[in-house]
Amino acid sequence: MGLLGVFVVFLHCLHLVAGQGTWTVLNNNAGISSMHTMVTHYDTAIFLDRTNIGPSQIKLPNGRCRQNPRERISKTDCYAHSVMFTPGPNTVRPLYIFTDTWCSSGHFIANGQMVQTGGDFEGNRKIRTLSPCASRGNCDWVETNDVLAVGRWYSSNQLLPSGLRQIIVGGRVTPSYEFYPKRKPGEGAFKLAMLGENDNLYPFVYLLPNGDIFIFANRRSVQLNWNSGKVVREYPLIPGNPRNYPSAGSAVLLPLTWQNGFGVAEVMICGGAATGASRSGNVNAPGSASCGRLVATAGRPNWAMQNMPIRRIMGDMLNMPNGDVLIINGALNGYQGWGKERNAALNPVNYNVATRKFQVFAKTNIPRVYHSTANLLSDGRVLVAGSNTHQFYTYRGAFPTELRVEAFSPPYLAAGNNGIRPVIRAYPKALKYKQVFVINFTVGRRVGGVEVIMNNAPFVTHSYAQGQRQLRLKTAAPVKAGAGWSVQVTAVPGATIAPPSWYMFFCVQNGIPSKAVWIKQNN
Ligand SMILES: *[C@@H]1O[C@H](CO)[C@@H](O)[C@H](O)[C@H]1NC(C)=O
Repeated sequence: MGLLGVFVVFLHCLHLVAGQGTWTVLNNNAGISSMHTMVTHYDTAIFLDRTNIGPSQIKLPNGRCRQNPRERISKTDCYAHSVMFTPGPNTVRPLYIFTDTWCSSGHFIANGQMVQTGGDFEGNRKIRTLSPCASRGNCDWVETNDVLAVGRWYSSNQLLPSGLRQIIVGGRVTPSYEFYPKRKPGEGAFKLAMLGENDNLYPFVYLLPNGDIFIFANRRSVQLNWNSGKVVREYPLIPGNPRNYPSAGSAVLLPLTWQNGFGVAEVMICGGAATGASRSGNVNAPGSASCGRLVATAGRPNWAMQNMPIRRIMGDMLNMPNGDVLIINGALNGYQGWGKERNAALNPVNYNVATRKFQVFAKTNIPRVYHSTANLLSDGRVLVAGSNTHQFYTYRGAFPTELRVEAFSPPYLAAGNNGIRPVIRAYPKALKYKQVFVINFTVGRRVGGVEVIMNNAPFVTHSYAQGQRQLRLKTAAPVKAGAGWSVQVTAVPGATIAPPSWYMFFCVQNGIPSKAVWIKQNN
């Protein structure tokens, strides 16, 4: 092969890599294996594991130890079980969590505070908060004096339109939902029969455009008017396998768009364990490749089914800033639970919502199986952490406890896209609903339409990004402004579309997103 041949092969490889994305290890030892991950509006990430797990790989600072007489493994515990990770320097700082957060849930509220609920054992009814901070800050978890009406683990949270209150749905032997804060003193939990079946833990919960809540568990789904406590309607069963824990499917709310007045809410649910795999203990059962899409706001909704190119259990589904959905992490066989998976799914898959086409992306070398997470960063990368399919930290076997943190850079971040990647130069710090505002940006080359897309930051655990939401905003044609461009954007119409909260705003040209800026959507 001549020089030219080598050059052509080289170019060809580059092209392939560029078209499939790239993986980078950001930190070889985050100290903990993150089971629950949140990205804050300071662009810091909170990693959270559980407390009754014995020693992690990072100690609490200044010789501090946790003395918890109700702790089951280490009554005196000098190890951290939560850390703050700062992308960029890729550093970690230990955080102090007191009660057990195993299989707990959470969501950010309007002021950017994380409200985190439930867990196992002595943490079962606990409510904790964390007011985030920048890399140099010293923010930490706070145990509140409030408690849940009933103990909950494996439940799901969704912020309600007030931006202050969350609904907390389901959990192990808790077929009910409740609110935090309570609507009136002493308010209890409200029964919901569909949460009493098998394979329905960590139900998939989304706020619908009219303010009702969509709840999916096992194969059932309903629309709940949480104000009146009435199930307004039941949707058809999704075809195929059950989807919720331990059946290990994943879900996403497809982007709500201004074109249809933000009135169409479509849910997509993908993969999961083979029917009966967990009950028969069949760790080799091939996972499901099937995805279903349901327009929850349609007059006569039904599931539209299609298959992923790779079958998957325990995937994470993310709303990407170009409007696509990324399906990442998990395994090919088995079901959810310690040591219950086989064959890591190393390739993420991209899904184009409009064309309904999948594309296989570049693989990682690091299995991310049970208790792993994936979160969108404001720079457009995906932060991947965790994976621990053992009761304690165990560094042997097919899937050792994973302490490495990775970033996946989708193809839109390929070097060749630099010239057409917008850079946001000016933006408002806060927005009111319906506000028309201006974003100024610069870009090397104008090659197509520009769109502004906003994403909130979910609480990611157990293959489900709690509260994840993406809105595609009305964006006028760019006009020349000084050395760059300016676009007029219209904020979402109201709190049922996007509850008050901090959102990442991306300016997207030709499918290439800028780095996001964080803007607070106010009432
Ligand atoms: C943004 O662009 C507009 C022109 O559309 C200009 O009037 C405004 O001064 C610019 N803002 C900043 C902060 O650069």
